[in-house]
Amino acid sequence: MQTQKKYNWAANIYDLYEAPIEKLLFSKLRNIAIKAATGKVLEIGIGTGKNLPYYPPEVELVGIDFSRGMLSKAQKQLDHINISKVELIEADIQDTDFDSGFFDAIVSSCVFCTVPDPQKGLNEAFRLLKPGGKAIFIEHMKSEHFYVNIFLYMMNFMSSIFLGTSMIRETQKNIENAGFKIQDVKYYVSDVVRIIIAVK
Ligand SMILES: C[S@@+](CC[C@H](N)C(=O)[O-])C[C@H]1O[C@@H](n2cnc3c(N)ncnc32)[C@H](O)[C@@H]1O
Repeated sequence: MQTQKKYNWAANIYDLYEAPIEKLLFSKLRNIAIKAATGKVLEIGIGTGKNLPYYPPEVELVGIDFSRGMLSKAQKQLDHINISKVELIEADIQDTDFDSGFFDAIVSSCVFCTVPDPQKGLNEAFRLLKPGGKAIFIEHMKSEHFYVNIFLYMMNFMSSIFLGTSMIRETQKNIENAGFKIQDVKYYVSDVVRIIIAVK
């Protein structure tokens, strides 16, 4: 099954399934990172909208996702949040119709583990960011440590079957290869989960 269809199928149970790791870790990382987004912001792979409560109210947010099922969950959150302008659009980050440099900031959390061609998606994200714009990534990836990677390879077997999610992508390298200049990296769960702040 294609990744997009897997997420349409999983949308109803996604938040429940992710609840423990959200409570233990990701809610804290969202709280640290997302408030740095300003101006016209593109959130890539907005999913069920878990970052929405963490944005400053004055951002103009465009959230895209290629799963209609996930987007419909995010839509339901909009009544409960305090952002002046939000638009949710069904779109694939591997190939979008937005003008180059249209966004002041881009945000992704747990997305480039799943985008079918992550380098293509990151190249497109780079194109959409204005020169000098900020990119905020909260992503998990392959570790620099051999023993951690043994565990990730075992998890990868299941995660790639169920959600098309890879545990062993080299996302920080892919971000750099797309042209982003990394300014800061914070490491969690050894070095598997990272908040990466970059600029164009
Ligand atoms: C693991 S979920 C993370 C959702 C959300 N960002 C979060 O932090 O909870 C990955 C999301 O990325 C979306 N996605 C994956 N590949 C995509 C693509 N090529 N274009 C747009 N969205 C994509 C999936 O549909 C899914 O909603």
